[in-house]
Formats: sequence, C-alpha cells, structure tokens
Amino acid sequence: MNIEKCIVAENSGFRIHLIKGYISNIYLVEYPSSLLLLDSGSISDIHEIRRYCENICARPMSDITLCVVSHMHPDHAGGAARIREKFGIPVAAFYTIDNWYSGITGLIQHSLDCMMELFVGKSIGKKLKSVYFGRKLRPDYPIFTDGPLPLFSDWEVVHIPGHTLHDIALFNKKEKILHAGDAVLSVNGRFRMPLPVYFKRAMRASYEKLSGLEVSIVLPGHGDVIRADDHHGLFTHMSGLIDEPKSLMSTAVHRISLFTPAVWKGSLKNILSRISCSCFSSTFKI
Ligand SMILES: [Fe+2]
Repeated sequence: MNIEKCIVAENSGFRIHLIKGYISNIYLVEYPSSLLLLDSGSISDIHEIRRYCENICARPMSDITLCVVSHMHPDHAGGAARIREKFGIPVAAFYTIDNWYSGITGLIQHSLDCMMELFVGKSIGKKLKSVYFGRKLRPDYPIFTDGPLPLFSDWEVVHIPGHTLHDIALFNKKEKILHAGDAVLSVNGRFRMPLPVYFKRAMRASYEKLSGLEVSIVLPGHGDVIRADDHHGLFTHMSGLIDEPKSLMSTAVHRISLFTPAVWKGSLKNILSRISCSCFSSTFKI
C-alpha cells in the first residue's frame, strides 16, 4: 500500500509529519540533522513509522534520536520499548510512567486497555492487529519536572496529569505548537475529553496550565490538527467538559478502568477518609 506524505506544520527549523497509527496520531518532527518521534503509537505501528521515515523523509529509522511518550496507554506507548530494542532509539517519559500498570491489578488493566484498543480499532474499520506490549517502559530519559526536553531543548515538557497521573505535553514556544497527547482530542470537528478522566481536579489544573501557553497549533493524539485562534477559549472549553454528564460509552470506559493502582488506591483512600469523617462527626455529634 502506498504511503502518503502528510505535513501538518513547517517552519525554518523543522517540519512536522503526521503518521496515522492504528488508532492514534504519531508525529515525526523532521530536523535537518535528526528526527524526533512524538509518541510511538501501537506496537503494530512500528512498520508504518519505518516506511514513512524511509519512503517519505528518505531517512533511516536510526535518524530518530528520541522517542517521547506522552502516557502509557497502548495506542501511545505500545511501540516505544520495541523501537528502542530494534533501532537503539532512546525513550523519554515522565518518571512515574511504570507505576501505571504495576502489580496484579495493573496487569488486569493493561489487558483491558489492550482489548479496548482492539475494540476501538474494530469500530473504525481497522483489521485486527497485535497490540499487546510490555507493561514497563523504563525510560532512558525520565522526566521529573517541567522544563526543556532532553536532546531537543526547543521543546518544553509540561506535566498535565488528569487522564493518567503521568501525562506530559510538549510545547514549542517559538513556533507556538503544542503536542497535547490525549489531553485534547478533535473528533468529527468537536473537541473531546480523553477517556477515562478519574483525576478531575488535576485535569482542571492541567487545562489551566495549558491555557497560559501561547498556543496556535495543537497536535492532538486523535483526530485532526487544531489551529487554535483562541487558545484560552479552547482550554476553558476543555475544562468545562470535565463536569458534563457522562455518555454511555464514557461510563463503560470508566467502569473498566478502575484496576490501575493509582485509581483504585485513590478511590479507597477517599472512601476511608469519608468513613473516618462520618465516624468522627457521629462520635462528637458535630
Ligand atoms: Fe490515553
């Protein structure tokens, strides 16, 4: 099958290519001397990335000097460890990324998330592919705080928890381009929240942080590239979606996303603190 060139942003320093992955967007930033990969897509997308590099950019995969992973879901992180293993490309991600699927419950969530990806793939007419990937990423460049991206200091890392606790966005201040991962999705002309969002307060704070950036182009993890004339309005709108009633699909996804340790431990902590508060108030008749 022929592969099509798709450039979504271009300037004097680099051009950004969009590679359509199994269900997500993969962005390849082409510099004269190197390539930067923004998310790896699924494990089955590696072949597509390689074909794009070789046939469209006329560059070998080894020209990719860094693969940044926005978060650990299979459609964004699935191929990263294999890309490192096969091509020696280092990986950067938030330092807590490997907690997401840890332990027995993490194993269950990992399998459910892989199945969810296959379900989404089928619903958009994709053939069944292998999406199963390792639960540990062990980033070569663990990111501890907001600041310049290792090896590509023209990109700033922005920690934006909410969808997971370790989501990161990347912002190119000079060109006003934001790689948003799953924080902003653009589907059929409408902006959407990622699924699930268990950490609502953190998500709201993340949108507030993003609204402080002078963004004019948003590269979403799914859907069409967004030309943001009013970036402040965009993130205010996203923040407003947090409290909207859940659709049937959203409810279902939340119900099967409870096994991640950070999610069930957080819920358990809330329940225990509510119980201890009500015991305290009934004992002292507050
Ligand atoms: Fe995600």
